[in-house]
Amino acid sequence: MSDRLYIFDTTLRDGEQVPGCQLNTVEKIQVAKQLEALGVDVIEAGFPISSPGDFNSVIEISKAVTWPTICALTRAVQKDIDVAAEALQYAKRKRIHTGIGTSPSHIKYKFNSTPEEIIERAVAAVKYAKRYVEDVEFYAEDAGRTDNEYLARVIDAVTKAGATVCNIPDTTGFRLPGEYQEKIKYLYEHVDAFSAGKAILSTHCHNDLGMATANTVAGVLGGARQVEVTINGIGERAGNTSLEEVAMTFKTHPELGIETNINTTKIYPTSRMVSSLMNMPVQPNKAVVGRNAFAHSSGIHQDGVLKNVSTYEIMDPKDVGIDDNAIVLTARSGRAALKHRLQVNGVELDGERLDKVYAEFLKLADKKKEVNDDDILVLAGADRANA
Ligand code: KIV
Ligand code: ZN
Repeated sequence: MSDRLYIFDTTLRDGEQVPGCQLNTVEKIQVAKQLEALGVDVIEAGFPISSPGDFNSVIEISKAVTWPTICALTRAVQKDIDVAAEALQYAKRKRIHTGIGTSPSHIKYKFNSTPEEIIERAVAAVKYAKRYVEDVEFYAEDAGRTDNEYLARVIDAVTKAGATVCNIPDTTGFRLPGEYQEKIKYLYEHVDAFSAGKAILSTHCHNDLGMATANTVAGVLGGARQVEVTINGIGERAGNTSLEEVAMTFKTHPELGIETNINTTKIYPTSRMVSSLMNMPVQPNKAVVGRNAFAHSSGIHQDGVLKNVSTYEIMDPKDVGIDDNAIVLTARSGRAALKHRLQVNGVELDGERLDKVYAEFLKLADKKKEVNDDDILVLAGADRANA
C-alpha cells in the first residue's frame, strides 16, 4: 500500500452548507486558489444540481485552478450526473462524486427501498458517471451505521463498475475510532480492488461527538488513503474533520510514514481567510489554528518555553504559518515572559528597571485579563522616562 495520503478538501461543498457561511463565486475562487497553494489534491467545488450558484461556481473554479482535481457532488441520479459533468467541462482534472445512502434507516425511510435495489442504483450511477469521466468516486452515505458485510457488497459492486475512490462517510459522527478503523480495515480486506491497487478508500468523518479527527486518523491507519476534510473543521452541525489537524498529526508523527502534499506553512493564512470570508470565528482553543493554540499563559509554562520550546510545544508555530509563539501576558506571567515580550518589541530591560516595570505590569494585569504589547510598551516607556 502506498503511504501517500490524498487530501480532499470539501470546505466549498460540505463546509459551505452551514447556514450563514455561503460565499459568492468570487469568494469561492479566492478560497479555491488558496487551497491550491496549500497543496490539496482534490477540491470538492460544489453540488451543481443544487443551485445555479453552485453550478456556476464549479465552472469558474474549474477555470481558475489548474493543479488539484476538481470534484462535483451528485446523488445517484442521472440528471445530477449530467449537470455535474457539464459544470466540470473546463476542469483540467475532474471527478464526479456520486452515491447513495446504505444504512438501514436511509434504505427504509429515505428511499423506501431494499438493500439489493440500493446496490443496483449505486452500480448504475457509477456506470453512468463513467461515461463522462474516468475518475469516479462513490460515497455510501451513513456508512458509519451500515453493517460491514453489506457495505462490503456495495463497495465491491461499485468498484467492479469502475469507482476508483470509495468514500465511507460517518455521516452522523457516531462511530468510535476503533470501530471506524475496523470498518475501513474490513473493507480493505474484503474488497479485492483495494489490495489490487485499482481503488482507494476515503474517510469522511463528522464531528458530532468530537471524534472526527480521531476517526479520520484511525481510518488512515486502517488503510484509507484519502481523507475528506474542511478548513477549520467547518461543516454541518458540529462540522467535518479539520484539514489542519490531520495534516499536522501526520507531520508530527513521521513514524507513521504517511505523507501529504500539504505546505503546512500556508495553514494559518488559509484558516484566517476562510474564517473571515465565511464570517465564522475560530474558537480560541481550536487545535493548530486557534488564537491560543501556541499561547502559553501560565508562569510555569512560559518559563519552560522560554528555556526550551520543546518543554510545552509539539509543533513549531512557524510550521503552520504563525510567526511568533505569542507568549500571552496575564497576572500569572513571570518576569522572564515580560522580558521576552519586550524583547520581541525591541525593548531590552534588565535588573532593577525590569523589576520596576514588572511591578507596574502586575498591577495592570490584575485589572485586565490580558496585557497586550501596546500596554507593556507604555509601561516600559514610562520607566524610560523616569530613568
Ligand atoms: O456526510 C456525508 O455523508 C456526505 C456525503 C454526501 C459525502 O457529506
Ligand atoms: Zn458530510
